[in-house]
Formats: sequence, C-alpha cells, structure tokens
Amino acid sequence: MQHDTIPSLARRLLDHLERGTTDQAEDVYRVPVAAYRDPARWEREMEAIFRRSPVVVALSAHLPHAGSYRALDLAGIPVLSVRQDDGGVRVFLNACRHRGSRVCEAGLGRVLRFTCPYHAWAYDRAGALIGLPGRESFGALDLEQHGLVELATAERAGLVFAVLTPGLALELDAWLGDYASVLDALGLADMHLYTEREVEGPNWKIAYDGYVDAYHLDKLHRRTLGRQYLGNVMAADAWGPHQRLAFPQRSLEAPRDAPEAQWPRPGPIGLVHTVFPHVSIAGGNGVPTMVSQLLPGPSADRSLTVQTHLVPKPLDSDAARESMDAAVDFLLRVVREEDYATGLGIQSALASGANESFVFGRNEPCNQTFHRWVDRLLERTG
Ligand code: FES
Repeated sequence: MQHDTIPSLARRLLDHLERGTTDQAEDVYRVPVAAYRDPARWEREMEAIFRRSPVVVALSAHLPHAGSYRALDLAGIPVLSVRQDDGGVRVFLNACRHRGSRVCEAGLGRVLRFTCPYHAWAYDRAGALIGLPGRESFGALDLEQHGLVELATAERAGLVFAVLTPGLALELDAWLGDYASVLDALGLADMHLYTEREVEGPNWKIAYDGYVDAYHLDKLHRRTLGRQYLGNVMAADAWGPHQRLAFPQRSLEAPRDAPEAQWPRPGPIGLVHTVFPHVSIAGGNGVPTMVSQLLPGPSADRSLTVQTHLVPKPLDSDAARESMDAAVDFLLRVVREEDYATGLGIQSALASGANESFVFGRNEPCNQTFHRWVDRLLERTG
C-alpha cells in the first residue's frame, strides 16, 4: 500500500461517518438462489472461471527455497508449484505420467526430486522424468515425452498465478491491469510464512460474499471484529473483478490537517484486497497479514478455505509467537464460528423455497461487482 493511499481512504471514511453515508452501487441487485446451489451451474463456474482464468496456486512465501513446493487441489485439478534452482516457479499438474498417481501429497515441503509413491517414477524439480525402476523390463518409452504436464505460470506481488488448463496462456497483465501495482505495494513478496489453518465452508460464492461485505461487520461480529470496526461504512474500489475495501476502526480520528507523512501506518482503518475469483488479503503494508484462499468443492455446496498467515519478518521471541498464535486462533474462530457457520446455515436453507433470489443493497457494492463478474465470465464462455 502506498503510504499516501491511507490518508485518502481514511478521509473518505471520515466523510462517510460525518454524513452517515457509505460507498454505494447504483441500485439494488438480485442473484437467483439457484446460482448458489445448481450443480450444473457450479461445474460451469469451475470450468469457465477457475480453469480458464488466472488463479492463485501458491504464495511466494510458500516457496522460499529451491525445491520448495506446494501441492493442492483447486477446482478439481491437482496442482504442484515448485521453486526452481534459478529462483523462478514452475507449476505442474500433480499427476504421474505412468498411471496418474499424485507424485506428492497435498501440502508444503522441500525436495530434490519427486518420487511417485505407486511405482517410484522420479521427476526432477523442473518436472522432467529422470528415472523409472525396472526400465529394461518396462519396454520402449521416451522419457522426454513423459515429464509432468506444465501449466502457464507467473509470479507477481508475492502470489503465484497459473491457468489450470494445459495449453492455455496466462495473460496476467491483462487480468490484473493497474491492480498489479496495488498488489505490489502490499509487500507480500517480502513477507514470511508463519502458519496456516483450514476451514470448511459453504458454496464458494456464499463464502466469498462475506469477504467483500462491510455491512455485517458490527452485526454478525459484534462480539469479535465489531468491537474494533464499524459496520455499514466502506470505501470501495474495483479494478475489473479485483477489489479493495476500506472500513473504519472505531478509533478512527484522522488528523485532517496533519501532513500525510505523519499519518500512522497502516492507519486506523481495515483493509481487504481481493484477487478474483478466490483470494482475500487482510493486512499487508508491513503488518501481519492473513491471506484467505477459497478452494471450491468438492461439490457445489462446499468449499475449503486456507488461511495463510504472513509476517513481515520471522518472529524471534516466545512472546511474539504467543501473540501471533492468539491472533491466528482468533481469526480462525471468527471465520469458522461466525462467517462460515452462518454461510453453512444459508446453504442448508437454500432448498427451502424461502427465497427465489437474494438481494444485495446499494450499500453492498462489492458483492454486486463480484456477482456481475461471475456472470460476465460465464457468458464469455457460453
Ligand atoms: Fe506413478 Fe506408476 S503411477 S509410478
């Protein structure tokens, strides 16, 4: 975050507080309930959005050294990201070229090579097939043609992007536009992995709705986040489908006339940056940061969220680690017991017929932007 952005966002929020207003969309907007529960629609979303657009498959902080890897399943695709000896990152389908076993379990690690657990075919960090047991008895095989299948990849702003369909190009500049520099300024590329937590949740769009919603902050979270933040006041900005939300802390007392260089950093505001379609970044700007990565599935009514906690520098004292652990536990509890408990309740009631559509108010502009982009990308691919 550029330092001069904090005061301008704080001033926008102060103006809203004085007037009793918030950033608004032009009108209320409706989303059919079927869009949250129809399995055929969900499969179209996976294909049109998650398998054809750039998605985040790892953070740079997951891959600090040559040979560091992260493996996960995203939209039904097993993905393996590996830091290369030259410092770059390559991303592969995590599927052995013999008979398709995953070459490593989901998670993080560091290896010299990947050895498939089934028959022990071995691949180097660059995905090349470098060995198979019993080669003389196996028969003719061109090793060069049987490396791991590689995906188009780019690393930017501390995030590793890939397109999950082999052969499709990754056009990251077009995808991020000017938002790339906004993400750069968050400083994630220089941060360090602290720990991760996982939370099971509802349909990915029900979950995502919560990440771009400042309306509920002091209602659903009145005993937790609401003690620190005001609700239903936001400064909302969008760069295509990617969005930034700013909302006021209760302590917001902006020195309107003070030089901007004297403003506190990161300032008495909350900030969330989203990377469409499935990442939310809370923090950045030199403070401990939680990156939430939504992984849809395994079916339309479920998702898994990985909360990755980053720190500006490794914590070197028990007191610092205890404080950070408490923050990690708090955020896990808020999301699991408040956001996703509510979302799973919504999910279970979708079939009741109570609502044919959900309505998003003018004070929920980011939700509206999100759903319009989902629909736009579905239409793009028919
Ligand atoms: Fe991997 Fe056989 S499936 S070695």
